[in-house]
Order: sequence, then structure tokens, then C-alpha cells
Amino acid sequence: MRTAFTDLLGVPHPIVGFNRSPGVVAEVTKAGGFGVLAASAYTPHELDAQLTWIEKQVNGRPYGVDLLVPEKFAAGDPDNLVASLRAQIPQAHLDFVNGLLAKYDIPEAPAKPAHDEIAASLNPRGAEALLEVAFGHRIALIANALGTPPAGLVARAKKAGVAVAALVGQAKHARRQLDADVDVLIAQGTEAGGHTGEIATMVLTPEIVAIAGGRPVLAAGGIASGRQMAAALALGAAGVWCGSVWLSSEEDVAVQAIKDKFLAAASSDTLRSPTRTGKPARQLRTAWHEEWLRPGSPAPLPLPLQPMLVNEAWQRIDAAASAGHEGALRLESFFVGQVVGSFAAVRPAAEITRQIVAECEQRITELGGML
Ligand SMILES: Cc1cc2nc3c(=O)[nH]c(=O)nc-3n(C[C@H](O)[C@H](O)[C@H](O)COP(=O)(O)O)c2cc1C
Repeated sequence: MRTAFTDLLGVPHPIVGFNRSPGVVAEVTKAGGFGVLAASAYTPHELDAQLTWIEKQVNGRPYGVDLLVPEKFAAGDPDNLVASLRAQIPQAHLDFVNGLLAKYDIPEAPAKPAHDEIAASLNPRGAEALLEVAFGHRIALIANALGTPPAGLVARAKKAGVAVAALVGQAKHARRQLDADVDVLIAQGTEAGGHTGEIATMVLTPEIVAIAGGRPVLAAGGIASGRQMAAALALGAAGVWCGSVWLSSEEDVAVQAIKDKFLAAASSDTLRSPTRTGKPARQLRTAWHEEWLRPGSPAPLPLPLQPMLVNEAWQRIDAAASAGHEGALRLESFFVGQVVGSFAAVRPAAEITRQIVAECEQRITELGGML
């Protein structure tokens, strides 16, 4: 398959594997797709180790990284960032989360201080440290979500020969990204897992293709099969950017309790909710959301205060759910898109990649036969 995206990055197949697990990124790249690591899941030190590991696996094949740099966020004192942000969390919110954990009888778990550090650094300054690490590696693409790329990123990437991509959920976002001179637009529809807007991939993709001026557009949101990939190419996309489907891979680092819930879920079991990050993000709907939607529950806080409020709770829920704790299993959730309803088994990421590509090629051939 040859598209503007495969030409730009020199990969055999126009399929991107976005994930926080280095194993998924390496396997998608090795299978001829393009793996992209979610850098925002890590401290700069951790990111360095992950990228070093990926490079050993992929043996010179191209891969990329993704940053989450919000344009709107709660600011803290740069010299005392974590403590100054923590001080902005109202007591009523802390009481609500503690009450929720008590109601479901969730046991304590050892705290991971890096959670606060990672959440607090979700801003342009925090992104600089991750960028510094990323540009120290052989990345072929850097993607950015939740706004235009931070100052200097595009110029630095162009100098280094690194392609810049941006996730967009509306045509007006795409115009701003084109003004910022990004190389690849990712049209991400509302079906997608994670932070997402309200326009469907079917509507958004051709809109973005129409204004992209020939730059490659990847379709994202709702793509987990070769039929969906063929549909995206038919809409004018130069490839697909998949996130959720890898959550059903063996290499994904999510706890088994989450994978089991995903396997059992239907496509109607997700919702967009700001209760994890402070911005609407699609995730599996569970008792956690029923609690936040109940009348009298507090309104979620802006990013990064909401993740700082709930991250430790999620660590406790994940740990307890992994041990089969009933209350934790009711609350247990993670970001995932509507394609969760199609997950039938946990499989190697390379096998998923190969199957999507083969089915897409077959479908395109069949479509040709209709003429
Ligand atoms: C678990 C999960 C985490 C995500 N985190 C990010 C992120 O940190 N940065 C980002 O740009 N997109 C993130 N996304 C969105 C993906 O990049 C991608 O656009 C989306 O998953 C595509 O739709 P799909 O979920 O239907 O495949 C995330 C998606 C999922 C499922």
C-alpha cells in the first residue's frame, strides 16, 4: 500500500499504533506499521528508558512519540509546582473521592509520587523536558494533542527532519494547526478513546482532507478492523491512527481486570467524561461515573487538578481490581473508544496489525470488483 503517509515516513503500511506500552509501539513498527509512544504517561527519565528500549527492538525502523500539551490548564507556582497545584484542590473534592473509595471498600495501596509529578507537568513547560528527551532519540514523528504545538517545537522538528503531527477534532482546529505548519493532521472523531470532541470520524475526515492542502491526513476514532481502515482511506485519509484496538493486545500494560472488562463490553458502554483528566475523554462507563453523575457530586476540576485528585484513587482501584475485589471491579475503567464492542480476544499487537492491513487490502480489492 502506498499513500502520502507511507511516503513521508517510509513505512510499508499506513497504520499507526498509538499506545503507552513500549511493547505495543515496537511490535506495530516491526509489523510494518508505525508505532507511537504516549510520552505524557512518563517522567522524562522514564521516557528516556522507554525510547532506548524501543530503539533496540525496532532495529532502525521508524517510530514516533505523542505529547499532550493542553492550551488551557490550571497554573501553579513553577518553583513549587506540585504543592501549589495540590493546594488548589478543594477539600470537598478530596472528601468526595475519599468517600467514594470508602463506599466501595477500596483498600490502601502504596502511593506512587510520580503520578503527581506527571500530572503537574501537563503544560508547555513540562512538555519541554519530554521534548528534550524525545529529540535525543531517533524519532521520526512527534504528535501533539489538545492544542497547537508548543513554541519552538515545529522549528526544532523541521531542523531535525522529524515530522510534526497534530490531533484535531474540528475544522477550525485544523486551520490553526496548518497555520502552525504541522506536516500531518490526525482527524480524530468522537468515537475515539481518550480526549475527543463531538464530531464523528465519518464527517470529520473528509472535512479535514478538504482543507489540508495535500498534507497527509490520518483518520482516528472508530478504526479497529480492515473494513474500517478501508473506509477511512475511502474518505480521503492517507492512513489510520488507532488507539483503542491495542488495548486488546498482549503487550498492552493495562491490568488484566481492565482487559477483561473491555472484552465483555459493548460499543454502547463508553461515555465522554471529564472525571479522570478534567477534559472530556471517552472511557468505559462504570460505577465510577454513576457516582460522579449523581446529584450533589462535585463538578470535575480543570486539568491537571482533576488527575491529581483522582490518580491515587485509580491506582488503588486498579490494584484491588487485579486482586478480584468486588467493589473495585465495579468501579474499574480506562480510556477506550466505541470499538471496544468489537474486542473478542487478547492477541499479539503484531498479529492485530497484520490482520487489519490484510483485511483492508482484501476489502479494497473487493470494492474494486463492484465497478
Ligand atoms: C487509552 C488511551 C489513551 C490515550 N491517550 C492519548 C494521549 O495521551 N495523547 C493523544 O494524543 N491521544 C491519546 N489518545 C487518543 C489516541 O491518540 C487516538 O486518537 C484514539 O485512540 C483513536 O481512536 P480509537 O480509540 O477509536 O482507536 C488515547 C486513546 C486511548 C484509547
